[in-house]
Amino acid sequence: MVAVDEKYIEELAHKVSEKLSDHRFEHCLRVKDYAIKLAKQNNLDENQAAIAGLVHDYAKERSASDFIQKIDEKGLDPDLKNWGNPIWHGVVGAYFVQDELGINDPEILEAIKEHTTGDKYGKMSVLSKVLFMADYLEMGRNFPGVERARTLTDESLDAGVFYQLSSTLSYLAGQGNPIYPKTFTAYNDWAQYLAKK
Ligand SMILES: [Fe+2]
Ligand SMILES: [Fe+2]
Repeated sequence: MVAVDEKYIEELAHKVSEKLSDHRFEHCLRVKDYAIKLAKQNNLDENQAAIAGLVHDYAKERSASDFIQKIDEKGLDPDLKNWGNPIWHGVVGAYFVQDELGINDPEILEAIKEHTTGDKYGKMSVLSKVLFMADYLEMGRNFPGVERARTLTDESLDAGVFYQLSSTLSYLAGQGNPIYPKTFTAYNDWAQYLAKK
């Protein structure tokens, strides 16, 4: 277990704050704190969790044209252009984090990509699951059922991930919104895995 490098985190926080509105930056700080808590509970490198939490929404306030440009520049799947900020800020946002903040840890970059989509059971690292849940459960969240989701996640990180995937999917479907294919596949995979357990 690696302790949090407070000095590095402070410098990083300053850079993140310059690209985000106050309310979103504060969300990032709370996600960092919750990610550290979940890292402790799940024997994960706390510094890695802190960095991922702090920078996960770094690109959230970029314009659509910035994202489109990055998709082209990096040669990413052109289908991404059919989606919008809710998907882009993670999947494409990870490249802004890498290019502008100099973070090259592949697990952190993957966790940022997956925080907006989730992924199959076997594909999500512990760090990915921790970030996915920290974003959902940070102490500023107050949706109905949040306490239950926090307790569930304290008991089992996997149970928490599945709870979030199924809740988000049913919410989106209930609103008649499209669901990103990777999220759909992730839900099915987790449901099948948990049914077999
Ligand atoms: Fe996000
Ligand atoms: Fe977030």
